Amino acid sequence: MMKFGIIGFGRHAVKRLIPAFEIIEDAEIVAIQKRQQDAVGAACAKYGIPRGYTDVDALLKDREVDVVFIASPPALHHEQVLQSARAGKPILLEKPMSANAAEAEEMVRVCHENHTLFSAGFCMRNVDSIAVVKDLLDSGRIGEIGYVEARFTYDANLSDRGWLHDPIMSAGGPVADLGSHMIDIISYLFRERFVDVRSFLRPAYTETDIEKQGLIILQMESGKMASVHTSFELPRSKSMVFHGAKGVMHLAEFSLTHSDIDIHIETADSTETISVHNDDHFVNMIRQFMDDVRKGGPMTCPGEVGLANQRILDIVYGRD
Ligand SMILES: NC(=O)c1ccc[n+]([C@@H]2O[C@H](COP(=O)([O-])OP(=O)(O)OC[C@H]3O[C@@H](n4cnc5c(N)ncnc54)[C@H](OP(=O)(O)O)[C@@H]3O)[C@@H](O)[C@H]2O)c1
Repeated sequence: MMKFGIIGFGRHAVKRLIPAFEIIEDAEIVAIQKRQQDAVGAACAKYGIPRGYTDVDALLKDREVDVVFIASPPALHHEQVLQSARAGKPILLEKPMSANAAEAEEMVRVCHENHTLFSAGFCMRNVDSIAVVKDLLDSGRIGEIGYVEARFTYDANLSDRGWLHDPIMSAGGPVADLGSHMIDIISYLFRERFVDVRSFLRPAYTETDIEKQGLIILQMESGKMASVHTSFELPRSKSMVFHGAKGVMHLAEFSLTHSDIDIHIETADSTETISVHNDDHFVNMIRQFMDDVRKGGPMTCPGEVGLANQRILDIVYGRD
């Protein structure tokens, strides 16, 4: 049994991690951290979790905790990863990696120095429909890819997460929150470096306001182009379109858990729809992390993946 401590037991932990841990037979949440004593006590009672802490270091000193899942707002990731690394607890960290690439570099370095296994939690890599898309792209089904369109929008006015609109705590608006996922999927599918990154943020991201909409244009080493459109003002929507020399492939709402997802392929002489059943990608991601930890590494999605992603965000936000 691998025993997890969750640092930042908030909405995401309740909505995604509790159901995932219910499915994973050989993992258990033994400790959580929240800011208020009464709230952490209530959450422990509600979800049957043995111990609750208000202090991150106290959770890290808990000898029962084998590994940590950090699910706090982005600006807290840096300090919490350094604390966990120094405590020698293997880390699975939510996206986006941090507030900037300098912090992300230090996180990766301190984990190496302390021989602490560190994984970036880019869960979209573990979506079943994305795995099938990867196989289809690798098989050349629609030929050499010229252009990828990715969109992820969400009406953030519907969210009661206060930090989402706080430029310091969130380290960015929809580009950081939603775009980081899409940029990572593109990196994962094509395993290529981005050699040029341009962006349009409306309004501009400042120290007092986040952008509400962002369009990122990326060029890969091979010349492939990609665009990532994100918004906090449009209804929830997520889609990808791959334009290849022999056809077009597209899919929408592809990360819904426990759902059938249609991948549409159109070539000059045929149209086809492939239906893929998605299990829960958080289950897949946590299981992958556990396998990597049991083997003593390397991590399938190491901290360096988060660092590369953060470097793109730094360019977009003018922090490079
Ligand atoms: N991979 C995905 O698909 C996905 C989806 C959603 C979220 N996420 C990521 O998960 C992380 C947490 O998101 P969430 O929706 O769970 O956020 P949340 O519910 O607002 O908060 C998560 C945790 O952070 C603490 N926290 C919130 N605001 C804070 C502040 N201003 N100062 C100090 N601590 C604060 C909360 O403390 P209390 O418990 O004391 O309130 C809670 O423990 C983020 O990195 C987000 O990007 C990922």
